[in-house]
Formats: sequence, structure tokens, C-alpha cells
Amino acid sequence: MDLSVIILAAGQGTRMKSSLPKVMHKLAAKPLVQHVVDTASGLSPVATHLIYGHGGETVKSGVSGDNLEWVLQAEQLGTGHAVQQVLPGLSKEGVSLILYGDVPAVREETLQSLVDLATESELALLTVCLDDPTGYGRIVRDETDDVVAIVEHKDASEFIRQIHEINTGIMAVRSNRLHEWLPKLSNENVQGEYYLTDIVEMAVNEGFSVQALIADDPMEVEGINDRLQLAKMESYIQHRIAMDLLLSGVTLMDPNRLDIRGDVSIGEDTVVDINVIMEGSVTIGKNCQIGAQVILKDCVIGDNVVIKDQTIVEGADIGNECSVGPFARIRPGAKFERDVHVGNFVEVKNAHLKEGVKSGHLTYLGDATIGEHTNVGAGTITCNYDGANKHLTDIGADVFVGSDTQLVAPVKIGNGVTIGAGTTVAQDVNANALVISRVKQREIPNWKRPQKVKKNK
Ligand code: UD1
Ligand code: CA
Repeated sequence: MDLSVIILAAGQGTRMKSSLPKVMHKLAAKPLVQHVVDTASGLSPVATHLIYGHGGETVKSGVSGDNLEWVLQAEQLGTGHAVQQVLPGLSKEGVSLILYGDVPAVREETLQSLVDLATESELALLTVCLDDPTGYGRIVRDETDDVVAIVEHKDASEFIRQIHEINTGIMAVRSNRLHEWLPKLSNENVQGEYYLTDIVEMAVNEGFSVQALIADDPMEVEGINDRLQLAKMESYIQHRIAMDLLLSGVTLMDPNRLDIRGDVSIGEDTVVDINVIMEGSVTIGKNCQIGAQVILKDCVIGDNVVIKDQTIVEGADIGNECSVGPFARIRPGAKFERDVHVGNFVEVKNAHLKEGVKSGHLTYLGDATIGEHTNVGAGTITCNYDGANKHLTDIGADVFVGSDTQLVAPVKIGNGVTIGAGTTVAQDVNANALVISRVKQREIPNWKRPQKVKKNK
């Protein structure tokens, strides 16, 4: 069966008080409408028609997906008018699923159930019961509980306004029926708009039964109109991501103190401490420990890795069994093979650390390759920048780099070299050599320190 997705995203969203179109505001670091596109893509639609109006180019350039078809609604004359714009390009086969660019939290399973209902009948609505239904279209049912109409709040009598079941706006309709019904809409109502919801009465008048699926969680179908709702939705989405992680076998020390802004995958038995932020594409393996206040951005972390408190990892690839931090900064282009240990106040950028490399303290490793089992002492600096260009430091395997070493790049250190503490290495060193550049220690006996001169007042 063909599924066509139609997403309404033409509204201005004045209540956001923003120059950015409403649907481009970000939730978990992704535009609202992109959430809708991504969720719908799980149902493998033949086409996704995006109806845009305000901020057209910004929306077009900021949203991506398979089989997207952009449809301009130049003037916003109502939800029915919006969907009318899609008709020329809408398949007559199968079912159309109507979604909203500002309703980001709807779940794929819910949409699948709705589409299934519409496949069995002609029209299926997603509804929800609200304590305060003010402003929404009400679901009117007959004495046998069948849906007979949707009446907009502004058009509703006091009696109908008592109804708590409301229209979320999301619906699935046989596509051929949309082609029949939409051209018949009129705008004779209080708002002078073409109401999509009027097709419900048309269906009932033609003797079709209208199905309604009642969502159990109002947040799933909540639309975003202002930044207050956006902030509430952010915590809801964060909570939902945290619940999914817990159920997938990840331990979160506090599910309310984790922020995930992107696409994250975490393996079983990994433990995440509090106030961790993950951004972009983050993959973490099994049985890892992620410390408190850690920030992970666009990185891959293997199995059995320990990332200690206050560490930042960005654009890096950390192999199995590594341990990093606390207070380490791992920057783009860092690649750690298995069992690398990088400790506190170590910064690594564009550097390949091979298996078993250790760099415990206070070090900068930039533009470098470091061979297996090399030990880098405290206070080591790769001097990679000559003021104009960056150069490489190539350190072999089993090297012992003494503390407070400067490696003036470009420089190559052979395997098995020992570098004495305090050495400035500016020339290549042959394998297995000892290199040391310390000045000979002098001792001046009975040294008198300078005395402070007392000033007269
Ligand atoms: C609509 C429903 C109402 C439902 C409510 C849920 C109709 C007639 N009413 O009401 O039953 O309870 O949503 O929030 O459908 N849009 C366009 N082009 C337009 C008009 C709207 O793209 O010409 C988009 C808006 O950007 C928005 C969505 O459609 O995302 C809903 O529009 P809105 O004006 O908020 O609909 P309501 O009148 O609130
Ligand atoms: Ca609305």
C-alpha cells in the first residue's frame, strides 16, 4: 500500500517572537519539522509533501529527507486550503497521513496504528482528551460513540465546548477521498478559513465510519506555539530519550540530568553519570563508564572505555579499553587505539595514539603519531605550530618521553628512544638512543637571597 505523508508547515508562528520560521526552532538540537520528517520516514512513504509558506528558503535549506516534495502555500487560508495545494502532486493510491511541522513528538508506532486504521476504513483521526480543551476542535460523537464531526472551538456551542476529546489535527485518509473531498470545502465559518476538519462530516454523510485513535499522552500530540511550550517539550523529549536508554540497558545515574542533542547510540551496561551532554552523532559501546559533566560530541567510543569526570571529547575515535580524563580535552582528529590512557589536563588534537600509549598528565599532543606502548611524561608539548604552519611529530613505539619535553615539529623519534626530562627535541632521534638537552647542573654554595629594601615613610 502506498503511503503519502503531508506535513503542514506554512504557519508563521508569531508567538515565537522570532525571525526564524517556527518549524525551524530546535528541539534536541534538531528543527521541529525535521523530527516530523524523520519519524514519518520510519513508515517508508512514497512521498513526503512539505507545505511551506513563511520563511520558505530557510525551511527548504534546513530540512532533509527521502522523497521530499516542497509545496508552496503562498497565503494561509486554513488547514484544508493547505492540503488542497498538495492535490496536483498527490498519488490517488493508498493512504495520506497528515502531520504538522510544529507537532514534533508524535511516535512512529502511533502513526503506524493510525495508518492501519485508515487502511481498514476511509478516515482515521488521532484525538486526545485534555483537561482544558479550550481553543481546539472538538470531537463530536453520536449516541453509539461513533465520530460524526469535528467542530472548531470558535464555531462551537456551549454544549459542544464541554467536550474534552479534541482533534490533534493528525489524520490518515484514503488518498482518493482527499481528491474527492478537499475541492468541496467551503470557508463559511467564523474564521473564514477552509477547514480540513470538515472532511469528517463529508465522510459521515457518505456513510463511511470515521475511526478515532485516542493518544494516551497529550505531550505526544502537543503543538509548539511559543518558547515556553518549546522548553517544556525539550524536557519531555529528553525524558523520553532517557527512558528509551534505560530500557535498552544503559544505566543513567539520574535520567533528569542528561542532555542528548543528536543521534546517540549507547551499548548495554554502560553507566552514565550526571550532567553529561551528548551532541551530534555519538556512538558509545558496551560496558563503558561516562563520568559526571562529560561532554561528548560527534565521536565514537568503543567497549569498556572509561571517560572520567569533566572530560570533553569532540570529533574523536576512542578504542576499546581506553581511559580518558578527568579534565582531558580530546579534539577533532584524535584517534586512540585499544588500551590508551590519557589523564588529567591532557589535550589531544589530530593525533593517532596507538595501542597502549600512556599520557597521564598536563600535556599537549597535536598533529602527532605515537607508537605502541610509548609513555609520554607530564608536561610534554608537541610544538606543532611555527607561527605560520602546522607540522607533524612522529614518535615511534616503546618510547619513553621524559617529563617537560618539548618536541619541535617536524620531528621524528625512532622506536625505543629514551628522552630525558626537560629535553627540547628539535632534531630527529635514531631508534634506541637516549637524548637529553638539559644544561649541566651548577651549585653555588651558601647563596644569599636578595634582601628587601625598606623604604622611609
Ligand atoms: C487545527 C484544527 C483543530 C485542532 C488544532 C490542533 C482545523 C480547521 N482545525 O486548529 O481541529 O484541534 O489544529 O492544534 O484544522 N497551517 C498551514 N496553513 C494554513 C493553516 C495552518 O500550514 O493555512 C498549519 C499551521 O502552521 C499549524 C497547523 O497547520 O502548524 C495548524 O494550524 P492552526 O491555525 O494552528 O490550526 P487551529 O486553528 O489551531
Ligand atoms: Ca493551533
